[in-house]
Amino acid sequence: MSDPLATRSWPRLEALAHAQGTRHLTELFAADETRAPRYTVTACGLTLDYAKQRIDDETRDALLALFDEQGVAAAREAMFAGEPINTSEDRAAWHVALRAPDTAPMYAPVHEVRDAMAAFADEVRSGAWTGFDGQTITDVVNIGIGGSDLGPRFVCESLVTDEPPRPHFVANVDPHDLDDTLAGLDPARTLVIVTSKSFGTAETLANARVARQWLIAAGASENDVAKHFVAVSTNEEKVRAFGIQRMFGFWDWVGGRYSLWSAVGLSIMVALGVERFAALLAGARAMDQHFRETPAADNLPVWLALTGIWNNNFLGLTSHCVVPYAQRMAHLPSFLQQLEMESNGKSVTREGAPATVATVPTIWGSVGTNAQHAYFQMLHQGELAVDLDFILPLSSPEDAGDEREIERVANCLAQAEALMCGRDSQALRGELEAEGLSGQALEHRLAARQFAGNRPSNMLVMDTLDAHHLGALIAAYEHKAFVQGMIWNVNSFDQWGVELGKAMAGQLVADLAAGHTPSAHDGSTDRLVAQVRAHWGR
Ligand code: F6P
Repeated sequence: MSDPLATRSWPRLEALAHAQGTRHLTELFAADETRAPRYTVTACGLTLDYAKQRIDDETRDALLALFDEQGVAAAREAMFAGEPINTSEDRAAWHVALRAPDTAPMYAPVHEVRDAMAAFADEVRSGAWTGFDGQTITDVVNIGIGGSDLGPRFVCESLVTDEPPRPHFVANVDPHDLDDTLAGLDPARTLVIVTSKSFGTAETLANARVARQWLIAAGASENDVAKHFVAVSTNEEKVRAFGIQRMFGFWDWVGGRYSLWSAVGLSIMVALGVERFAALLAGARAMDQHFRETPAADNLPVWLALTGIWNNNFLGLTSHCVVPYAQRMAHLPSFLQQLEMESNGKSVTREGAPATVATVPTIWGSVGTNAQHAYFQMLHQGELAVDLDFILPLSSPEDAGDEREIERVANCLAQAEALMCGRDSQALRGELEAEGLSGQALEHRLAARQFAGNRPSNMLVMDTLDAHHLGALIAAYEHKAFVQGMIWNVNSFDQWGVELGKAMAGQLVADLAAGHTPSAHDGSTDRLVAQVRAHWGR
């Protein structure tokens, strides 16, 4: 099956959504005291409670039937077998091989590169690797963008370390990103990892060139560059042309947004150590095994995907908010934006025809509790209904003695409860009367203060925030994107939509140059080019 509309389940789900009408989540709980445990799945130290989704048993069965009808299980096997499921580029999407325990010959290159990364990371961390004046490395700067930045950045920030070598991440071509980062660093003690799958990304190469000048300006010779610059790429020729000697390779079958498990994770390994990188892989591997072997009804990534499909395609909730209640996980929403929106932001099918159903929703979010004091008003009472994933890592019992920890957890649970339950208007009326309000004033206040609730959310609890659990969490979201892509029948592993803008930026770089006669664009772009050139005196 490929067209989701041609399944028996799709119209059944539409009918169920229609029949649901205004039925409130609280009614589902009232009718079934076993709902919470029955709508909870656990795997690899993660617990997904999806009981606060507007789903009943019949809907659940229909969603599972859709999973079956769309052949997701067979596609999953094809992915694990390294078959070319990325149809528009005719290549595999085989990121699971990067964390597979397998030592069969086909996995040998993965192990070779990882061994080389480990030897290098150990050298840097032990102080055996020194910079141009013989000092040890205290800081590591990863220069890369998109998948060559977001995964390693999110992991390093989540598993924070104050021990040198300290990780830093530069992605933006805005000079302030690199300049502000380098300003606090000693060039003689800094290692730069230039990470780019293609080694053709303009922003990354521009930043890498400036970082290299910074090193030379500090007294390093051209020969010393090798002590401070290494590359991670699939494009050896371009790396050599750039003048970097030491390269850690990976393969075209690793998509950028799925690449942190490859050499793209070198900054993680250098900053956090070989053991923690191994724990990250082990967590992902455990989730892979769970995803591959557990029946869909008890499968955590499958439920992340199916709840999203239900909300997006059947309840019309086209905005999905991710709120980690963990300061260190602040980059999770950005990481998931690329993972899910670059993977499934498509409008053609795997066969090249127009997609027949809505694909990925808008993904956004930020950390709780801060988010509560910014946009949660809209989530509770706004016109646009939004569904959420709350991510709640638990702290150790010792840390739970800190009053802020109790606040953190309580606020996370409270928001999900409030979104679901809303505010009972009778009870509120009583409160307002008790405050002495009556008549018009009471009605006015009542209207402003009541909210209907029935806003769905997932609660994803992590037993703890460590490398193993983080690996499992990231792999779960990778598999969520895969399942959704298969159900929507889009290719989750290409990203042709970003190419046109890159090509146009190349032309505009030339058009903004002094002495160049700009080529013609649309009227608006022409006027903007003229404005910028006039401002720069060109
Ligand atoms: O934004 C498009 C994209 O190709 C992403 O898919 C990728 O992660 C990013 O650019 C960086 O690409 P590269 O690693 O080749 O520099």
